[in-house]
Parts: sequence; structure tokens; C-alpha cells
Amino acid sequence: MSSKVILTGDRPTGRLHIGHYVGSLRGRVEIQNAMDYKDMFVFIADAQALTDNFDNPEKVRQNIIEVALDYLSVGLDPNKITIFVQSMIPELTELAFYYMNLVTVARLQRNPTVKSEIQMRGFSKADRAEGKEQGTGSMKQGVVNPVQKQDASEGSSGHGEDNQPVFGSGLPVGFFTYPISQAADITAFKATTVPAGEDQKPMIEQTVEIVRKFNSIYGQTLVEPDILLPSNSACLRLPGTDGKAKMSKSLGNCIYLSESAEEVNKKVMGMYTDPLHISINDPGHIEGNTVFTYLDAFCRQEHFGLYLPEYASLDELKAHYQRGGLGDVKIKKFLGKILNQELEPIRERRKEFEKDIPEVYNMLQKGSRKAREVAASTMDDVRRAMKINYFEDKQLIAEQAERFKQQKH
Ligand code: TRP
Repeated sequence: MSSKVILTGDRPTGRLHIGHYVGSLRGRVEIQNAMDYKDMFVFIADAQALTDNFDNPEKVRQNIIEVALDYLSVGLDPNKITIFVQSMIPELTELAFYYMNLVTVARLQRNPTVKSEIQMRGFSKADRAEGKEQGTGSMKQGVVNPVQKQDASEGSSGHGEDNQPVFGSGLPVGFFTYPISQAADITAFKATTVPAGEDQKPMIEQTVEIVRKFNSIYGQTLVEPDILLPSNSACLRLPGTDGKAKMSKSLGNCIYLSESAEEVNKKVMGMYTDPLHISINDPGHIEGNTVFTYLDAFCRQEHFGLYLPEYASLDELKAHYQRGGLGDVKIKKFLGKILNQELEPIRERRKEFEKDIPEVYNMLQKGSRKAREVAASTMDDVRRAMKINYFEDKQLIAEQAERFKQQKH
């Protein structure tokens, strides 16, 4: 059997949407069902969500069950994998504390994801320092793409666009250091493979550095992870229905997994297409046209036979649109049907799981217990490597006893 350990998680700050689905959830279910791994963990990152929602714990509390239901409804199966809640594993905090010794402030300041998130949340504003106003933190899937921003921010002075220092006095230490906590999440389970979006790349890089540093100082203990990105580029960063950046709750441009068919159709009909495609006969643009980006992410060959038999393929549909003579309503109706076909079984499964909510909490608790055993075993390895395993080290105790016996009083 494969020696792969798969691990990934999501912050419980809202229901999951189709951006999460194509970017990660769909792939996770495929990995789960291919069974080519030693162990697989999917977790709800509530402790990380609290780093920018510490003043709104109720939001995190309410969304644990929403994310758990989204997991189950897409087909993640607690009989095959371990689903758990981050804050139930105290070893993760313990590990993060020791990893903090291995990371410099300068290195954290170079993390492009942290940098852009700080700006989005307004943590960089000095007047927020004394808690006058805190970011609401609802912008996880934010406007700024950190990977695109990476070059621009390389070697910059660490100032935001408004010339406020990004790492100003209003920045909570917990948020600043969350990449270290994320390294603990990953390494506690000796994960080899982290299926995640492109925005998580800097986190995995930081984790790899921590692993190398730890192993070089304390001896081979931790495992270096790899990120696993979706192969379809339209899935890497699905734009919002308004065509802007990523889907983000605060922008109101999301289609949620748990949304009704009518709601999905309504949102698809309101989608951003090509502003230059005014009458049907005008030539249309595919690039930056949200409907076509979604079709790239969701459309399969079989959909033509089912819903649009007059076209043989997506390429043919695109060519007609570019030539002119194909209206937006037609492609939107097609997309609506495809989305609803994909979402219908997810909605149905959700309804079933919603009937027994206590059982969903039960499943999370069981998963958390199992995850804790694994993390505790890694913690034992770490204690041994870091020489903080005093009481289990009989030799140490014997040596110390001998040393003190030799001393003449
Ligand atoms: N940072 C991830 C997100 O924003 C959530 C997360 C926390 C995570 N710990 C992780 C993802 C470990 C992968 C591995 O969604």
C-alpha cells in the first residue's frame, strides 16, 4: 500500500461554495475513493479561523456544523478517512510553540499570503491597535491573490497601498504566526500530501523550511509535505459570479453547495459575461467571461448530449460564441443545468445528514479522538528529539542520580 498521508483543512467561517468544490473538495473525494494512501485527514481549522475572528467566536461555532455537513454532502466519508476539529488536538498548539523558535520575524513577513491577508483585514491600520475596530475576518477567500502579488511584494518595504506599515502595531501576534500553526497541523500527522488551493503554496513552503530546520537541529523526525494543486487551471481560482477575483462571502459573489436549484439558476442568470457582447450577433469574448470559465471547470462531454445536443464539444460552443450568433441566455441555461446536475446529489445527501445533527457532532468527536492519538505519537517523537522527555528517559534519571552521588557534601 502507498505510504502517502493526505491532510487538508478549511476554516469554518462560512458555508463552502463551488469555488471550494472545484478547487479542492471534488479532488479530495477522488483521492479518498482511490484509496491510494496510508491515511487521510480532513479537518475543520477552527483555531486558525479564530486568529482573525477571535472577537466573533459565535461565527466560528456556528460554522463547524455547516462545514461538516458540506464535507459529508460532497461525499467525504468518515468510514474511510478521519474528519476532525483542529482545536480538539492540543498537541497542535504545543508543536507550534516549539516551531516558533525556528522561524524569524523577517521570514514570516515575507509570506505573501499573510501579507495580503493582513491588508484585506485592515490589521495594518495603526488606529486598530487598541481594539477600536477589528477586521471582521469574513474575507478568507479574499480579493487579492497572494500568488499574483508575490512578485510585486518581493523586496518591498513592507508597507501597504495606503502606505501604512503592513506589520504595524495593530497586528495580532496570533494572526501573524498562523503559518507556524499551520506547519504544526501538517507535520503532526506526518502528512506527505496537502491538497489545497494555490494560495496555500506559501504555507507549504514555510512548513517545508520548518521541517528541514527541525530535522537538522534535532535529528530526522518530521516529514516534508508537498502541495497537490488541481490540474485544471479554471479550477485553480474560480472567479465569483461577478467575474471578480475569487468567490468571497463578503463580495456576495458565491454559489454555495447547499443552495437550491432556483437560487443557482438565478445567480447564473445574473453572471458577468462579456460587456462587449451586446447583441447576439456581435462576436463574443471567451477570456474573462465567467460563464465560460465555469464551463471550463464543470462541463464534461456527456453534458452536450444531455442538454445541448446541437453542439459536439465545448470548443465548438466557444467558437460559435466568438464568431457571433450565440446568446448569453443560451450558455447560461446550459451552465445552470450542468451546475444543478452536479449539485443535486450533494443537496440530497446534505438533507439526509441534516436529519441527524447529533450524529454529525458524534462523528467529529470520534474523528478528533483518533486524530489526537496520531498527533500525540508525533509529539512523543518531537519530545524525544528535543530532549524534553525527562520522565520517560530512565537513562537520564540514572545518570543524574549517579552524578549527584559522586558529589561530596
Ligand atoms: N489555511 C487553510 C485555509 O485558509 C486552512 C488550513 C489550516 C489548512 N491548516 C491547514 C489547509 C493545513 C491545509 C493544511 O483554508
